[in-house]
Amino acid sequence: MFVLLFGPPGSGKGTQAAALAERLGVPHVATGDIFRKHLREGTELGKLARSYMDRGQLVPDLVTCDLVGSRLGEADAAGGVLFDGFPRSVPQLYWLIGHLGATGRSLASVVNLQVADEVILGRITGRRTCTNCGATYHAVSAPPNADGTCARCGSAVVQRKDDTEAVVQDRLVAYANQTFPCLEQLVDRTPIHNIDGVGGIEQVKGRIFAALGL
Ligand code: AP5
Ligand code: MG
Ligand code: ZN
Repeated sequence: MFVLLFGPPGSGKGTQAAALAERLGVPHVATGDIFRKHLREGTELGKLARSYMDRGQLVPDLVTCDLVGSRLGEADAAGGVLFDGFPRSVPQLYWLIGHLGATGRSLASVVNLQVADEVILGRITGRRTCTNCGATYHAVSAPPNADGTCARCGSAVVQRKDDTEAVVQDRLVAYANQTFPCLEQLVDRTPIHNIDGVGGIEQVKGRIFAALGL
């Protein structure tokens, strides 16, 4: 069961992923989260990724596909994965189709979260992220503890460096030019569930589960 959670930055992919992955019984694989882990640990890959992420640009396809290839080689990923933020370009999509196809596997479906740019801007500039566990908050609608720590693990909660208005605009451009075209390539291959991503978090979750018949 290989499922793509697709949508522009700030559409709620990370927010919806944990519950959906749990229900599908597959691991959640988010390339952005993996890059940020490398960044925190100061690895060479982290340093390379940072130079692109801070500018709202995509990390090169070869680097990203290599990373995903390693992750897919782990035992827990053999039967399926919920992808979040991957593939993010047409070359990444065809790499994935080829990689899965080589062992007789294929993409089961796409969940496409749809949210207008104006809503996205408010969500992302208000987002706060835990430096330790990656839990996501929002300064207004879902604040962390009053002392600015994570309600889940107690670590510091900060604003992601790429969550400023200027960088978000660049990420939206990258999405429109490089990521959105993946959907056109998927239309004749894989069922695409278009989900209205505006509304309460539980409401959006309900729409996703209903669309997938869960
Ligand atoms: P990545 O980390 O994947 O960021 P993104 O795609 O820009 O998506 P976000 O994580 O910003 O948004 P999200 O959809 O997860 O929304 P969230 O649930 O947090 O990538 C970052 C960078 O890494 C890229 O720019 C690139 O440089 C690099 N990268 C990653 N993958 C790559 C790849 N495959 N190839 C190349 N480069 C790659 O929600 C956002 C906010 O909204 C939160 O505050 C949340 O609380 C709030 N919210 C969520 N749902 C709702 C709701 N229903 N109502 C109200 N508020 C809500
Ligand atoms: Mg995310
Ligand atoms: Zn935390």
